[in-house]
Amino acid sequence: MPDLQWNIASWDGSYDWSTGGEEWSEVWGGSEAQWFGSLYPRLHRRLPTGSILEIAPGYGRWSKFLIGACRSYVGVDLSAECIRACESSFLGSAHARFVKNDGLSLHAVQRRFDLIFSFDSLVHAELNVLESYMPQMLERLEESGVAFIHHSNFHANTDHRSNPHCRATSVSAEKVAELVAVHGGRVLIQELLNWGRSDPCDCITVFARSGSPCPASPLVLNNHSFMAEAEIIKNYQSPYAVLSS
Ligand SMILES: C[S@@+](CC[C@H](N)C(=O)[O-])C[C@H]1O[C@@H](n2cnc3c(N)ncnc32)[C@H](O)[C@@H]1O
Repeated sequence: MPDLQWNIASWDGSYDWSTGGEEWSEVWGGSEAQWFGSLYPRLHRRLPTGSILEIAPGYGRWSKFLIGACRSYVGVDLSAECIRACESSFLGSAHARFVKNDGLSLHAVQRRFDLIFSFDSLVHAELNVLESYMPQMLERLEESGVAFIHHSNFHANTDHRSNPHCRATSVSAEKVAELVAVHGGRVLIQELLNWGRSDPCDCITVFARSGSPCPASPLVLNNHSFMAEAEIIKNYQSPYAVLSS
């Protein structure tokens, strides 16, 4: 069970960050291919935008794309090491700032955002973390803003014998949808994803404040091809890397 102590111990000091998290993008052919082939197609209708809050940026694998797509960016992470690394990497971006937190509170960020984003981080956050963040995220969304949050769906899986990717075991898409509703928000999309296994152990929940102008009925997508997408993206994007030279 990856609780807060597990996250602090893993990411603040003991993890070898020498490739900045690129190792997690290898199946897509790198973070650039993963961003433009997988994440950007899901998000492009909201980018560029005015302001972005990223929860748990790590070494900035997605921050480099998000910072370039907004006028104001804040990244919040529980790892002091990650915050220092991002501050150093994005020194030239005056509209970006990074804040270390305790893994539960967004208190240091007292403003609203057009987009709240988190990918490949809160999959390791148990329900107590999401219970804490959910009302704070909703409070920090602009009336027309959206949150795009990647989290665990492990609790809903039938096979709990192996958990090689350290998914939070207490979290499911259904429980996150309940949290959104309880705190006065509205789910727009839940995309259930397989990640290195056949059952949907992950989920992307996209939500907004209840008064959002987005369509009313939530969409539930069962995407069993998320990892197959990665292979396709790698195959077609990699040859085009020659264009960057
Ligand atoms: C696997 S890394 C991923 C980082 C980045 N999102 C990426 O995809 O490269 C997980 C990150 O989440 C952060 N993290 C984990 N739980 C957190 C929490 N409850 N609040 C803030 N940051 C958290 C860790 O410190 C670490 O930087």
